[in-house]
Order: sequence, then C-alpha cells, then structure tokens
Amino acid sequence: MSADRSTAIYERAQQLLPGGVNSPVRAMRAIGRAPIFIERAAGAQITDVDGNTYIDYVCSWGPLIAGHAHPRVLEAIAAAAAKGTSFGAPTEAEVALAQEVSLRIPGAEMLRMTSSGTEAAMTAIRLARAHTGAEMIIKFAGHYHGHSDALLVQAGSGLLTQGIPSSPGVPQAVTADTIVLPWNNEEALLAATSRSDIAALIAEPIAANMGLVPPQPGFLELLRERASATGALLVADEVITGFRVSREGAAASVRPDIYVLGKILGGGLPAAALAGPRAILEQLAPAGEVYQAGTLSGNPLAVAAGLATLALLDATAYAQLNATTQRLATGLQEAARGLPVSVVAVTGLVTVFFTPDPPTNLDEVRGADLDAYAAFCRELLARGVYPPPSQFEAWFPSLAHTDELIDRTLEAADSAFATLR
Ligand SMILES: Cc1ncc(COP(=O)(O)O)c(C=O)c1O
Repeated sequence: MSADRSTAIYERAQQLLPGGVNSPVRAMRAIGRAPIFIERAAGAQITDVDGNTYIDYVCSWGPLIAGHAHPRVLEAIAAAAAKGTSFGAPTEAEVALAQEVSLRIPGAEMLRMTSSGTEAAMTAIRLARAHTGAEMIIKFAGHYHGHSDALLVQAGSGLLTQGIPSSPGVPQAVTADTIVLPWNNEEALLAATSRSDIAALIAEPIAANMGLVPPQPGFLELLRERASATGALLVADEVITGFRVSREGAAASVRPDIYVLGKILGGGLPAAALAGPRAILEQLAPAGEVYQAGTLSGNPLAVAAGLATLALLDATAYAQLNATTQRLATGLQEAARGLPVSVVAVTGLVTVFFTPDPPTNLDEVRGADLDAYAAFCRELLARGVYPPPSQFEAWFPSLAHTDELIDRTLEAADSAFATLR
C-alpha cells in the first residue's frame, strides 16, 4: 500500500503538532509505524490521503455507532448548521436530547452537557465532593476517565499505550486524594471502603480502556453496595459503554448516582454530559452552587448529531450490533487458532488480547504480548483492515459493518495471524 502522502504530511505534522497528532492514541508508535492520515470515510470504511481504503474498527473511538457520514446524521447537522452554529443561549433541541437520555437511562432525570468526556467526568467528581462533603475518590487501575488531574492516576488508554505511569505536571497534592484499586478485586474494594471520607467511587462499568475487561459477576453490585455503605456516590463512566452495549448502557442495573456520557451522545461531534437524579444534578450552577460552564456546551450541531444517532438506536439496531459483534469475535478467535489469543466481546466492543486467557485486571492485561499485537495490527493494515493501534483499546464494530465486511475482516485476520504462527 502506498503511503507517500501520509509520510509527507506526517513529516510536516511533527514540526507543527507534538508527536504529529492532536491526541496520543492516534499515533501508531505502539505498533511501530507512522500514523495514517485520513481523507474521508463512509459507512464502515475510511480512505487515507494515498487512496487506500480500510475497514475501520476505530470509528472515531466510539461515537460512530451508525458508521461514518450516516445520511440521517449528516442531514441533521446540515439542517442545524443552516440555522447557526452556536448561540451561547439555550435551544429546544438540548431539552429534547435530555428527554431522550432520560427515557433510555433509568435515573438520568437531568442532564448537564459538556464538550468532552474529560470535562463531564471532572464535573461528576466535583459534584460528588460537594454533595457528600468528602474529598477522597476511588478509581480502578487501567480505567480512563479523561485527562483531568485527579483522575490521571494509573489511567488506561493512551497513558497505558505510551507507557506513562503518571503524567508529569499533575500535582501530588491533587492525586493524594485518589485511591487506585485493582479492578475486579473484592477484597481490595472492601478494605478501601471501610473508611468514611470517600466522595465518589468512579468506574467504567465495563472497562474498555485497557482493552475490554468486563466486571466479574457481582462486582458492579458490590460497587453499588460499598458506595452506599460508605456514603459515597457511585459514578458510572459510560462514555464508551453508554448507548453502545445496550439502550440503557452497562450500569443501569445497579443504579449509579451519576452517569458520565459522551461519544455516541454527540454522534461524532463534540458532546458529553453528566446525568443523574434531580436531587444531585440541581446542585450545579445556576440551580445550585457547584460551578461548571462551557462556551460550546450543548452545541446545536452536536446536539442534532446526537439526537439523529440516538433515533437510529432501537431494539433492532442493538440486535444487529450484537450479531455483528458475535460474528466478528467468534471469527477472530477461530482465526487465531493455535495462538495464545483471547478474544473478549460485549455488544459493540471487542478486544483481541495476546494473552492465553481473558485478563480480569490491569496486571493481567500487562502480561499481553505487545510485540505480537503490534505485528498483527501491521499485517491487518497491509490487508485493508484498520484495528485500534494499541493492545489497550477496544475495537468498535458499528451498524455499518455488514456481514460481507466482517467476512473480509476475518479473511484478513486469518492471514495476519498465519504470519505469527
Ligand atoms: C471511559 C471514558 N471516559 C472519559 C473519556 C474522556 O472523554 P474525552 O476524550 O471526550 O475527553 C474517555 C475517552 O476515551 C473514555 O473512554
């Protein structure tokens, strides 16, 4: 595959953008190659600046559950844009989006929109601290909640990919209030929640930023129980899982106190939110005194894209996405026969772990054969399949991934795995 233009642009980019990219996971350093610069995309396929087309399993890291450039989403954005791109004043569509979220997610009575998941998670913590009067927070190793200081401790996603244990520039005093626990470890959770100064227990209900590591049976229920017992709020970070793994997300069954939403909520444009019961959300200004604000929060284009995307997500869509995910995951596991590979999947999310067994926590994830994953990715790219370029990220199949595209992916995976045997 030719890469002349991508290579040339990358050279210029490295002079002008740190590392040549505007977000670390876009670089392909972890798989030992340069990033691919994208020209356009449609459905489940992206085309780079050299004219190479790939079946895309990154899909903007989650927002594009309906695929790239879905006609309904584009129409909604165009119609909104024609009326003006931002007002700094409220619109009816924001109310409609809040209503739509409340119909889908039990307990999401009110919504406060932000432009990024980082801001939403940061605000959820501030709100939990204000609500409880406590300051400590508990998070889990390998979970990622955006890049705000207090949550940037043993975080997954790009930090894990780049091998950055904790970022320089984050004051120790800020992270001193953050307790990090191993995921799926009941004993550690019980011990840490024996104290009474905890404001929030924050978790991805299905961890997806160290590769996909679902909770063990009963672990989410224990999170709920321990948060309540210690007087902390349970914050479910559903930025990835929300509207993806099911209509109501991954945590609704345990009724978190605050949900953090993003990605699909904005349908491919910048939007995120925190949501929860009125009694908690109304502490945000101007209803209450907990301050949070944003110039582009609830941006009309992002709200239109979010509403149009959610309108596509009915029971039939989730059944289809589940069938697609199963076809992909089963096929990948089969293609990896004879190799120490574990394919983990839930509806709309897949990880191909180069581990003999599915990992249950960050330590086990760290045991993965990263060189083998990197080689696998390079081979897939050479065969027209674009996987997440990191062992520590999930694949994002979408409603645009047809059976034919999945079968082509599996053929490519079959020969990519063959090169590793
Ligand atoms: C679970 C989770 N929370 C929060 C974030 C941060 O969202 P954003 O990148 O929009 O700031 C992400 C981003 O990938 C995420 O996966």
